[in-house]
Amino acid sequence: MSYLELSGLQKRFGNATAVDDVSLGVAKGESVALLGPSGCGKTTTLRMLAGLIDPDRGSIRVDGKDITGLPAHRRNMGYVFQSYALFPHLTVARNVAFGLEERRRAKAEIARQVEEALALVRLSGLGARKPRELSGGQQQRVALARALVIHPSVLLLDESLSNLDAKLRDAMRHEIRSIQRSLGITTLFVTHDQVEALTMCDRIAVMHRGRIAQIGTPEEIYEKPATRFVAEFVGRANALPAERTAEGKVRLWNEALGFAAPAKGAFDVFVRPQRMRILPLSEATGPDAVRVTGRVLRSVFVGDHVEVLVEGAGGQLTVEMPSGSPAPGEGQAVAVVWPVAESRVFARDAA
Ligand SMILES: Nc1ncnc2c1ncn2[C@@H]1O[C@H](COP(=O)(O)OP(=O)(O)O)[C@@H](O)[C@H]1O
Ligand SMILES: [Mg+2]
Repeated sequence: MSYLELSGLQKRFGNATAVDDVSLGVAKGESVALLGPSGCGKTTTLRMLAGLIDPDRGSIRVDGKDITGLPAHRRNMGYVFQSYALFPHLTVARNVAFGLEERRRAKAEIARQVEEALALVRLSGLGARKPRELSGGQQQRVALARALVIHPSVLLLDESLSNLDAKLRDAMRHEIRSIQRSLGITTLFVTHDQVEALTMCDRIAVMHRGRIAQIGTPEEIYEKPATRFVAEFVGRANALPAERTAEGKVRLWNEALGFAAPAKGAFDVFVRPQRMRILPLSEATGPDAVRVTGRVLRSVFVGDHVEVLVEGAGGQLTVEMPSGSPAPGEGQAVAVVWPVAESRVFARDAA
């Protein structure tokens, strides 16, 4: 049994099911990302964990204890809201002290714990300020300190970096991850940002329409997406319409490939653009490679890579080449080649 255990959680609002049978185990000290597009049920899941709303069905356990019916203040969970939700009229120190005052701790102890928490998020000395006198990144740290000061058994973060600019977000990502690791605190964080998910956690649970589509390490999610939705949502992918040969194999751009097609229904072959290579037509390829041919429509320099758009018998695809390598000229006839193992087949209509 995991330290944090969600079993069969469900929540409806009117006729709409926001969270549908979500089960997930998080080990002690582990950081898991709930990744998914807006509206897929991430915040609702987190709010059920924190005790801010009641599930219609299912249970939540921490360290073997069922806490599903406990009120929020008795769950010992640290929650960082998307909006930070700091009290504007209170000082930074009082904001951080809030959870300890609620728990009626002694004054001296509160002062010591607040100092410690502020030091942890590198805000020592700023306790007397009001939130509005801090930058966005600093306010974010106050919210984090307020969540950590109660020594929560579980830390919950809801899109907590989305209000920061790109550079600060990057820095905070690493900082939160290193605090999480050094405290060994069990963490569930919600994000719609795949880079955030891929860099800040041990495992990712991809959510889609209230359900968990796949749970795995960042590598597993990226390399072996279980569904079409996961393949499209995490990372970039070419979705290439394909056909079935009389022998039941995949045919792509008029080339019969060595692997089996689904028994029925329309389907696409998914390939990551950076796993494809462009070769001269004359160059031979081995049996472990897929090879299609086409013509270069255009090459676009995107800084760290070059995007090459190729058109062939079955449509268009994009190849990502490292910049610095010579890009083929427009109109040039080329072969596009990738390892068979980089091809994933998904039904056209399936989510
Ligand atoms: N209090 C509520 N009342 C009615 N519908 C809600 C409420 N909270 C969330 N929803 C709906 O539930 C779905 C999931 O919402 P939410 O959990 O906030 O998604 P996410 O955080 O992934 O963007 C959405 O369709 C949303 O509109
Ligand atoms: Mg949300």
